[in-house]
Amino acid sequence: MRMVDLIRKKRDGQALTTEEIEFLIRGYAKGEIPDYQVSAWAMAVYFNGMTDRETADLTMAMVRSGEQVDLASIRGKKVDKHSTGGVGDKTTLVVGPLVAAAGVPVAKLSGRGLGHTGGTIDKLESIAGFSTSLTREAFVRQVNEIGIAVTGQTADLTPADKQLYALRDVTATVDSIPLIASSIMSKKIAGGADAIVLDVKTGHGAFMKKEEDAIRLAKAMVSIGTQVGRETVAVISDMNQPLGFAVGNALEVKEAIDTLRGEGPADLTELSLTLGAQMVLLAEVVSTYAEARALLASKLADGSALEKFRAFIRAQHGDADVVDHPERLPQAKHRIEVSAPTDGTVSALQAEEIGLAAMKLGAGRSTKEDRIDHAVGIVLHKKIGDALQKGTPLATLHANDLSRIEDVKAQVLAAYEISEETVVAPKLVRHIVD
Ligand code: URA
Repeated sequence: MRMVDLIRKKRDGQALTTEEIEFLIRGYAKGEIPDYQVSAWAMAVYFNGMTDRETADLTMAMVRSGEQVDLASIRGKKVDKHSTGGVGDKTTLVVGPLVAAAGVPVAKLSGRGLGHTGGTIDKLESIAGFSTSLTREAFVRQVNEIGIAVTGQTADLTPADKQLYALRDVTATVDSIPLIASSIMSKKIAGGADAIVLDVKTGHGAFMKKEEDAIRLAKAMVSIGTQVGRETVAVISDMNQPLGFAVGNALEVKEAIDTLRGEGPADLTELSLTLGAQMVLLAEVVSTYAEARALLASKLADGSALEKFRAFIRAQHGDADVVDHPERLPQAKHRIEVSAPTDGTVSALQAEEIGLAAMKLGAGRSTKEDRIDHAVGIVLHKKIGDALQKGTPLATLHANDLSRIEDVKAQVLAAYEISEETVVAPKLVRHIVD
């Protein structure tokens, strides 16, 4: 087999066979096929797409390129959850303990944040002592003992995807639905999931700005899951404005705790219940969506979801007292208010700008090597549809370093659009693809 023939085949709009895709990924991972040939193939895929079968083959070839986590010794059906990334998206911190309290085993590998979106591992590390690197044995044991464990992804998982993603990043081939779908699904499958719930974000602050693209991506991932025997459901949710009010690591942990106590923002609570109910259904704990929602609502109401969060923090050596005393989380030195310049109603709140402003405060990374400040971030007070008067607080900046504060204030203010008309908040849950 010669790589040049595979490039030509894809260039001419034909589908590669399973063996050809395996040859390509294996050869690339071993360093036998050079970057320039894989770049040419990726560009041909960008223009000509891939069939559903090719996309599933690419996914499984990347899964086989590294470690495949074996969760067989964990009792029950393991359902993973993945978000394509958003601003203020702390749903894993809520959904994990919530579904674990309902009897779904949660064995989750999570990542760190990059750019304007955050990562679960960074958020958890704002809890003093919390360990995010468990051995595989400790990870499995903890899920069997308390029903939930979250650990960082290791370099051994899907190395071919990491290599290919880095290449796509510098060859303008990231934005290809089959390449994105196979990249995301390969990591979930290698992580050992039996079934997968995807939260595909759409809107200004999302990877997929247009709803129709989010639906195409969701369908591509559901198709991969179906073909490889991992039942997959995708929820398309809004990311035109941040989720909840808090953006920044420790601030988001506090908001997740409030939500587990039943006192969280309405949108975060609703999305957590929606995603959680899909997980409960896939895990076959109950048989209807209504039952799944009711079960999860009862776990919030009776405090068992919050108790599960406490047990989870304790098991991973974190300071579980933060549950009752959130002031034990890292606190920023300064709080600076941004207030409304005029009367009106919030008609837009650019999530990406809020994410970038939080990053400037130190809450996120612009490169993988950047260190983050867990204490800092932004707490929004007004979101789309809220009425306000001149001088009403729009947001509070939590800062340690004031050197760029005027710039951050201006960016937060610019993220808000205020109109004289009445405005309805965008619908949160747009579609379910299954
Ligand atoms: N996230 C991924 O994991 N892979 C992509 O290709 C794009 C986003």
